[in-house]
Amino acid sequence: MLHFAAVNVPRYTSYPTAPHFNARIGSERYAAWLSALPADATLSLYLHVPFCAELCLYCGCNTKAVRKREPVDRYLRSLIAEIELTASHLGSRRVAHLHWGGGTPSTLGESGFQTVMDRLARLFDLTELREHAIEIDPRHANPSLAEALAHLGVNRASFGVQDFSSEVQRAIGRVQPFEVVRRCIDAYRNAGIDGINIDLMYGLPRQSAASVALNADLAASLQPGRIALFGYAHVPWLKKNQRLIDAALLPGHEDRLAQARIAENVLTGHGYRAIGLDHFADPCDPLAIAAEGGKLHRNFQGYTADQADALIGFGASAISRTPSGYAQNASDTAGYERAIASSRLPTAKGIELTADDALRGLIIERLLCDLRVDLGALAPSEAFRSEISALRPFVDAGLVAINGGQVVILEAGRSFARLIAATFDAYPPANQTRHSAAV
Ligand SMILES: C[S@@+](CC[C@H](N)C(=O)[O-])C[C@H]1O[C@@H](n2cnc3c(N)ncnc32)[C@H](O)[C@@H]1O
Ligand code: SF4
Repeated sequence: MLHFAAVNVPRYTSYPTAPHFNARIGSERYAAWLSALPADATLSLYLHVPFCAELCLYCGCNTKAVRKREPVDRYLRSLIAEIELTASHLGSRRVAHLHWGGGTPSTLGESGFQTVMDRLARLFDLTELREHAIEIDPRHANPSLAEALAHLGVNRASFGVQDFSSEVQRAIGRVQPFEVVRRCIDAYRNAGIDGINIDLMYGLPRQSAASVALNADLAASLQPGRIALFGYAHVPWLKKNQRLIDAALLPGHEDRLAQARIAENVLTGHGYRAIGLDHFADPCDPLAIAAEGGKLHRNFQGYTADQADALIGFGASAISRTPSGYAQNASDTAGYERAIASSRLPTAKGIELTADDALRGLIIERLLCDLRVDLGALAPSEAFRSEISALRPFVDAGLVAINGGQVVILEAGRSFARLIAATFDAYPPANQTRHSAAV
């Protein structure tokens, strides 16, 4: 089974995956997709803030370290201009979800959030907003920011924790004692933000199964509604900061699998429901309720109960999804700001969805969300014959069961779900070095 863990596969936060996006999709095509959205379409908005006070060694996000205010203010001006430009192409304005991600969104400061929210409220209908979420670095959060965010309507905060032990924290360049995290979460709860998420990681340098189990216990003691447990994606050929991580200290595939499994046991032992391949939720949390009802979705932020018709991304590297296809903004802030300065949508690449892409995307999403899919309900029985035979090694290893048109990922296969879902990916594997290990 271990040989499965070593294969590099995409995270499938989109299908087709980002390496297959192409430069034929630019601002004009994306603008046409926006205009084609029906007037009653519901929207999910994502705002990317690509700045941090310093870079964590493991980080795979699109961000950079900034010390001065000037680049942040310049970026804020571009963000506002992009929001105006995008709204001018949109028929629909009904927003159901809003997510601030990064980087470290708090870099914008209270006045920065206020400016963006004022503009959004002027151009969009935020009266039906169900979830307003933000990613928070506990080292750079204070009670006054928590109150300002609550005042702006934020109702969910995701805290980046990764690991609680000082030894691992030193090895990943992110020192953040348990007390810092606890005080920060208390401040957000006291401000009235009661949707609390914690991000943990496994596969980090100096982690062991015992230390990951302890992290899961400590995280559960803070009683968040959701816990994400991400496997560290080590791609130093793409991320320079990761080159400072001593590869000799990284757990091997067998250790990674053991860490993922023990954390799952600890968290489910605390009453959390396992959601998809790397999330856990309190049974009363909307994510667990959506999962129970087969209404879970997967997008660039991971698992979500968001069912909006389109996701509109703002900011450098942000990806948008409309029924027509995916469009990604220029990743570098300079290129992004240049496009905005010339009054162009900053779309750099994307992909238009064919009917086959949409069908395969649906199959992959259902497998990663429900761990099962009924192929018979989606396509003629012969349509996926070669994929069914390609699943044979997983069936033989006891990871998958196939009953007629039903493909079911068994509990033992949960950690391998991305690899199993990849059977339905019709695109040639992108250069293997683009992705991280399956577990
Ligand atoms: C944008 S960051 C979170 C917000 C905030 N900047 C912080 O670090 O607290 C989102 C999450 O991605 C995860 N992450 C970052 N780099 C990763 C990597 N190389 N592999 C897997 N997960 C990663 C971490 O769990 C992190 O909390
Ligand atoms: S993990 Fe968060 S704080 Fe650390 S570099 Fe990445 S985005 Fe910044």
